[in-house]
Amino acid sequence: MKSRILIIGACGQIGTELTMKLRERFGEDKVVASDIREGNDELMASGHFETLDATDFKAVEDVIFRYKVDTVYLMAAMLSAIAERFPAKAWHLNMTSLFNVLNLAKENKIKKLFWPSSIAVFGPTTPAENTPQTTVMEPTTVYGISKQTGERWCEYYFNKFGVDVRSIRYPGLISYTTEPGGGTTDYAVDIYHRALKHGQYRCFLKEGTILPMMYMDDAIRATISIMDAEEEEIKIRSSYNLAGVSYAPEDVTASIKKHIPDFEISYDIDFRQEIADSWPNSIDDSRAREDWGWKHKFGLDEMTAIMLENLQPKYN
Ligand SMILES: NC(=O)c1ccc[n+]([C@@H]2O[C@H](COP(=O)([O-])OP(=O)(O)OC[C@H]3O[C@@H](n4cnc5c(N)ncnc54)[C@H](O)[C@@H]3O)[C@@H](O)[C@H]2O)c1
Repeated sequence: MKSRILIIGACGQIGTELTMKLRERFGEDKVVASDIREGNDELMASGHFETLDATDFKAVEDVIFRYKVDTVYLMAAMLSAIAERFPAKAWHLNMTSLFNVLNLAKENKIKKLFWPSSIAVFGPTTPAENTPQTTVMEPTTVYGISKQTGERWCEYYFNKFGVDVRSIRYPGLISYTTEPGGGTTDYAVDIYHRALKHGQYRCFLKEGTILPMMYMDDAIRATISIMDAEEEEIKIRSSYNLAGVSYAPEDVTASIKKHIPDFEISYDIDFRQEIADSWPNSIDDSRAREDWGWKHKFGLDEMTAIMLENLQPKYN
């Protein structure tokens, strides 16, 4: 029997779409979804599902053994906004889950590992425009600290033990299938729901807050292509910068107004503003482009059209 893929944290914003895409590509039997909660109906009906706590080494090892898994995508994590409320829990989840899979790879129980990092690894002292791959990194959030530390450990496990771990620093991701999981860029998804439901949106980030974003299809394509790349093409074993589009709340408002002319935005900023202010405005992803051929496809207006079209039936 051929080996299988395990996705841990498969029922979240990224995991749901990644699972469906991998099942489409490799066959339903080849992709095991797992999470501490159940996913949407489509995901649950389309293949294997295991209830699995990413922090439980024995349980993860057991699923890997039972399904003959050779590739793991670790998507379980506590995201930026929630992590500020539960620092110790966030640290425990984000680090223990990573060590578990890194150690399983070190013991040759899996061959290949994907672990996502984030633009949250950067901080207020990082150059905000066109942020380079290698630069000052002094993250000021619990989440950012956990991702930066995770990057260092990934590189360490590659250098010391030859672990084939691959990683991307995702920007804020925009999708309509699953609700976002408590990050600072969540406004950029919520705004479409509110535009359709109420014709207005109260934004928790202020005007002018430019952040790097990406449409989910681009993020999934990047994830699959970095995993498809030959081992020697992956020259960065901490995590690759990845860029799509950069915009502020007023830009997405203008884009929505092209479809819903009466749409209005107001601003009521909260603690997430400080997090957003510490992150870059735009990202230099030339290393991902050079090393494994990355190129983004979706711009803001294309994303807006797709989001509104696909969310519309929900609010009819
Ligand atoms: N969505 C984004 O915009 C974004 C941006 C940058 C990086 N990332 C990273 O991508 C990864 C996935 O993000 P997401 O947006 O899909 O997050 P999400 O919060 O939507 O999904 C995470 C999933 O992990 C599950 N989970 C939580 N604790 C678990 C545990 N102990 N064991 C197993 N599963 C557990 C949750 O139930 C959830 O389904 C995370 O590492 C996140 O930091 C996401």
